[in-house]
Amino acid sequence: MPEPALHSLFFHNFAVQTPEAATGVSPVEPALSSQCAAQESATLTVVEDEPAALDVMLRAARSWDFDCQAARSAEEALDLLEKTPTPLVVTDLRMPGRGGVWLVREIHKRWPDTSVIVVTGGAEPEGLEQSLDAGACHYFLKPINFDEFHHALEAALRTQRARSASDRRQRSLETRLLRQKRKLRHTFLCAVASLVRTLEARDPYTSGHSLRVRRLVLKLARRLRLDGRLRTELGLAATLHDIGKVGLPEALLNKAGPLSAEEQAVVQQHPIIGERILGPILRNRAILAAIRGHHERFDGLGYPDHLRGEAIPLPARIIALADCFDALTSSRAYRHARPRAEALQILREGAGTQFDPQLLPAFLEVV
Ligand SMILES: [Fe+2]
Repeated sequence: MPEPALHSLFFHNFAVQTPEAATGVSPVEPALSSQCAAQESATLTVVEDEPAALDVMLRAARSWDFDCQAARSAEEALDLLEKTPTPLVVTDLRMPGRGGVWLVREIHKRWPDTSVIVVTGGAEPEGLEQSLDAGACHYFLKPINFDEFHHALEAALRTQRARSASDRRQRSLETRLLRQKRKLRHTFLCAVASLVRTLEARDPYTSGHSLRVRRLVLKLARRLRLDGRLRTELGLAATLHDIGKVGLPEALLNKAGPLSAEEQAVVQQHPIIGERILGPILRNRAILAAIRGHHERFDGLGYPDHLRGEAIPLPARIIALADCFDALTSSRAYRHARPRAEALQILREGAGTQFDPQLLPAFLEVV
């Protein structure tokens, strides 16, 4: 059962649940009451099988502004706490049924933030030790001394409130961190968009290529029912897959004729350059590996690492398909765009050699 926020518990009002509460037993001494009054209302479960002791503790706690609920046994207390948890519990150790030590253990297990104070007649030192081991935070002895009782309640309450304030600070810090993370992410994505624009401005033939590849890749990822995180990584990797081309000479990018072997070797550096450019700002290994691997071939004849088959990261195999299709159907400095049917035929012929044969049918469905 989810635990209600401590803050709301502190200010929740409970119905009185013991018949003793209405018996008109004389109130706790006014001097004691005013001396010990809690500054804010807090909630408390008192567990005691002796009616007189229960009545005394309830009236004392109420006089210090604690809202109380009561139980006569450990089992009854658990039922009550399941319905209405309280941040503080005071329990006798010796009770019929499973007893106080069992109750302390159960509370600690189910509501680890609840503070438990045990009351003992002093005749069960082992039980007291076991309760403290099980997570009880304070104890006091019978016969009940009001100062001692009140001190235990106040100390437990102070601990609770300090913990609650610390939780609030922690939550506020987490919110601020999350906000900063989002801001950073936004800045990063703007920088990415600028990088891609820079790249495509240098090579008019590839204008819009990265975004088209991204669109195709995301369609395939949806078709393959890849999870959200992988789709996000894929989208970013596809947008950035050719970013390493900013490191290539412009003359090579826009060369009208075929490239010499030396020039090809230079161009084939772009996946490595891309990984190197993005490495310091993008710590995500999966995205970097996808960028580095987008020109690997399924038969191991690709570059730069000659990876083969499923050794090529899945995002890289996906980008390879979309990248090739878009390149074939776009005009380049050295050739015109090919018709769609011809491009699809080239992809089919590359199944198992250039492309992952398992991915190709799905790609042909979405393209
Ligand atoms: Fe590329």
